[in-house]
Amino acid sequence: MLRRGRLRRLNCLESPQSRSDYAYLGLGVGLRTVHFDYLLRHTPAVDWFEIISENFMDSEGRPRYVLDQIAERYPVVMHGVSLSIGSTAPLNFKYLRKLKTLADAVNARWVSDHVCWTGVAGRNTHDLLPIPMNEESLRHVVRRIQIVQDVLERRIVLENPSSYVTFAASTMPEWEFLSRMADDADCGLLLDINNVYVSSVNHGFHAETYIRSLPHHRIAQFHLAGHTNCGTHLIDTHDGPVIDPVWKLFQTAYKLTQNVSTLLEWDARVPEFPILHAEVLKSQRYIAGVCDGEANKTSETPKASYTHGDDVKLATTPHPAVFVAAEVE
Ligand SMILES: [Fe+2]
Repeated sequence: MLRRGRLRRLNCLESPQSRSDYAYLGLGVGLRTVHFDYLLRHTPAVDWFEIISENFMDSEGRPRYVLDQIAERYPVVMHGVSLSIGSTAPLNFKYLRKLKTLADAVNARWVSDHVCWTGVAGRNTHDLLPIPMNEESLRHVVRRIQIVQDVLERRIVLENPSSYVTFAASTMPEWEFLSRMADDADCGLLLDINNVYVSSVNHGFHAETYIRSLPHHRIAQFHLAGHTNCGTHLIDTHDGPVIDPVWKLFQTAYKLTQNVSTLLEWDARVPEFPILHAEVLKSQRYIAGVCDGEANKTSETPKASYTHGDDVKLATTPHPAVFVAAEVE
């Protein structure tokens, strides 16, 4: 009852375009092993859970038992880290069949992954590696998304990863690449607002421009997370609370999109479940600000306009969720 009540209150705005493929699930959190016991004992009033697909595709025993219990009580969304949609290696159809089997078994509301590549020659790097953003890579990614969607018999949802490098071969900003990709492939977008912020600082673009430029009706889900400030750059570590500038960007994004399911990622130094849950519930305050007409203020002063063609500058850092997947192999 509590969950239904909260959903009604947050749905204070009419959606500008149909998002019927992507139901509004409310405020969710990632399902993590350290919380299994707590969740089974307390059945907390969480709106929904996101699982790392690879952590459950081959698992039986207790992880699968817990997932089945969760899927009986809550909506579940699947989030993968091994699709490697940007790779030039052939798509892994065995992986895709397992993904579909799991999605059907847990009634996944949607299946997501990242705009990246993760391996080559049959090897998984357990890293979300960036791709150049140009016409050739766009055609390549769109073609592969269409194949994946045919196999899975559903639209997929793809996330903007945080990045630490740009390519000399890139000819368009990331937001243009994502927008055209989503429209050409007819897929959904998972907008990780913390990733936008991290990349905006690392590359010097304006985060709000990025968010305003996307096709908002294609955004199925938001991610929120904490990151680490290394002084010269930010790293997407998912190891702490969401910082204020990211909350402000969330508020802007929520106003533009309206009723998008929101999920908090916290993968390192994971706190007790009530603390984790309380962090995502902070979203209510910012959504209420949108509903009261107080949102949509500029979040940050622009640092620089987008420039492409920089050479690779920094080594990449494994995505925290990839650590989670690697742990169970
Ligand atoms: Fe994310």
